[in-house]
Amino acid sequence: MEEDKKSLIDQTQTFHPSHSFASQANLKSFDEYQRLYDESINSPDTFWGRAANELHWFEPWRSVLDQSDKPNFKWFSGAKTNICYNCVDRNLETRENKLALIFEGEPGDTRVFTYRQLFDETCKFANTLFSLGIRKGDRVAIYLPLIPEAVISMLACARIGAIHSVIFGGFAADSIRGRILDSTCKLVITSDGGYRRGKNLHMKTIIDDAVTGCSSVEKILVIRRDNTSSQNVNMQEGRDVWYHEASADKLTTHESEHMDAEDMLFLLYTSGTTGTPKGIVHTTAGYMVGTYLSTKYIFDIHDSDIYWCTADVGWITGHSYVVYGPLLNGATILIYEGAPDYPNKARYWDLIEKYRVSIMYTAPTAIRTFMKWGDEFPNSKNLTSLRLLGSVGEPINPAAWLWYHKVIGGERCPIVDTWWQTETGSIMISPIPGVTITKPGSATLPFFGVDPAVLTDEGNETDYGTLAIRKPWPAMLRGIYQNPGRYVTGYWSNWGGAYYYTSDGAIKDQNGYYWIIGRLDDIVNVAGHRISTAELEGATITHPWVAESAFIGADHDIKGQALFGFVILKAGFQGSDQVRAEINEIIGRKLGRFEIPERLVFVNDLPKTRSGKIMRRLLRNIAERKELGNTSTLADPAVIDHIAEEFRKLD
Ligand code: PRX
Repeated sequence: MEEDKKSLIDQTQTFHPSHSFASQANLKSFDEYQRLYDESINSPDTFWGRAANELHWFEPWRSVLDQSDKPNFKWFSGAKTNICYNCVDRNLETRENKLALIFEGEPGDTRVFTYRQLFDETCKFANTLFSLGIRKGDRVAIYLPLIPEAVISMLACARIGAIHSVIFGGFAADSIRGRILDSTCKLVITSDGGYRRGKNLHMKTIIDDAVTGCSSVEKILVIRRDNTSSQNVNMQEGRDVWYHEASADKLTTHESEHMDAEDMLFLLYTSGTTGTPKGIVHTTAGYMVGTYLSTKYIFDIHDSDIYWCTADVGWITGHSYVVYGPLLNGATILIYEGAPDYPNKARYWDLIEKYRVSIMYTAPTAIRTFMKWGDEFPNSKNLTSLRLLGSVGEPINPAAWLWYHKVIGGERCPIVDTWWQTETGSIMISPIPGVTITKPGSATLPFFGVDPAVLTDEGNETDYGTLAIRKPWPAMLRGIYQNPGRYVTGYWSNWGGAYYYTSDGAIKDQNGYYWIIGRLDDIVNVAGHRISTAELEGATITHPWVAESAFIGADHDIKGQALFGFVILKAGFQGSDQVRAEINEIIGRKLGRFEIPERLVFVNDLPKTRSGKIMRRLLRNIAERKELGNTSTLADPAVIDHIAEEFRKLD
């Protein structure tokens, strides 16, 4: 991997920024970037204080950054604000009749909201939440398709100070239950359905299953997405409430809660290296300022833009760059409910042409899929409204970058390859469009306030090692819900507590550009989705015949990485297509269908060191059909030949 990447870096092409883009941009020159960057590192209080002053505060802060209780950093201590107020109310002054949100459903239905209408709907939603007994600090789970209510319910929670925990619509009942139990949610917001590839997703049915045993859940608020399916929805008397009924008499005004800067804004569960996902805690003020400023400069938001981030709000990208960052900047955002190939493979390009989208932000796996489908689909639509393209979620290979640049961007749009994580809250490493020279495959340089380093295990700077962040930044996570210890050990214990540990490997080239290699832990990045192998192993073991399993991620042309499972059955049981289907069914039902592995291989044994540690590297080599390399540390080297043979039988 290291050698492959190094030779790529040596041969790389560079793309010079466009002066015509820069001349109208929010940040106009590399010198300006350099000057502001230096200030953000050397005088963070001045820099971030100025950025924060562009937003609304009910009460000012006493200090910008409080480092007295490291690594429990506090930002804007003493201040009072509300992120919903800043996203919505603040924009009424100058943008009341500007479109805030454009929605297109998969069947082609559309709804649009001006900032005034978004205000009305958000207030109505907030009043409905209040009438259901939701108060500041209560946890609310949101399990919705990508419809306007997904955005509105998040904003309404923020408005009243309830902590939202959005759960991606692809997660299955057990995954949802685990998240609801950990955060003891009082309310679940869901819908009667949603559309994906022409099929109706029965979200309420999944929630009915998920909430069994969740004693904290008092009410389920159901949005009517689909009139036909709503007739078949089971509504439990006393617990389940239709949103259109509960909201019918609610006012369209609501005074937003004055939130303390460090009050919790949301929880977002993400995969860690153990079998249970961790609830990443984000708080109010720092997250608000971080997403506001990064959106302003990295997406160069102007009032004339139509901004489309294709992520679901169930992921951090959806939180920071579908909802909060763009609305804080008064942007017009587009959301689309369905699949990119429904009813045909030109759907995304059709949306861009129809709504004159000017900024598009998507994932490399999607770009590679579009490449495979063929140029005729984007070429059949008018994409000249686009002026800026973004990429996120996984390393983008140069071929995909170049295709995105040429076929989608018409060689005129800068590309921002943005590296960040659920934990970082906002973009950490990215070009500034029109200003930074780009190199396909590199996320380039740090954003303001971000002080990265590539380190050896001993903590020495190197050109290839672990990516670490030296200083706190406003949108950083404040902890792991119910588990303060895991926050310190997981993120702030390497290198004597002096750096945030990212879990990513990276290269720093001779120009100081960062190239993210990928995760160093047992997290697999499949199609931009962060999946824990420990969670898959935990689900697999619940099949009564399974004795042990190991899951790994291996390189994949489209998905970046694909999952491969190696399963040992208990003595006396034989692997078969039937057992394989049963295990996959368990994974689909417990975790979500997107976690079903590419290939599941039955084996007699797993490659282990003498101390019993599974050598995942060897399994990865088998899946990638590489030379096996050194197997001398294996307790039993014969094991690996057998596994390779079983793997190949499935070709
Ligand atoms: O490995 C990195 C990869 O995605 C991980 C974070 O995943 P998640 O918390 O789900 O957030 C994804 C969206 C921000 C990182 O540890 N990753 C994210 N962006 C990039 C990336 N890898 C390379 N290049 C990127 N631009």
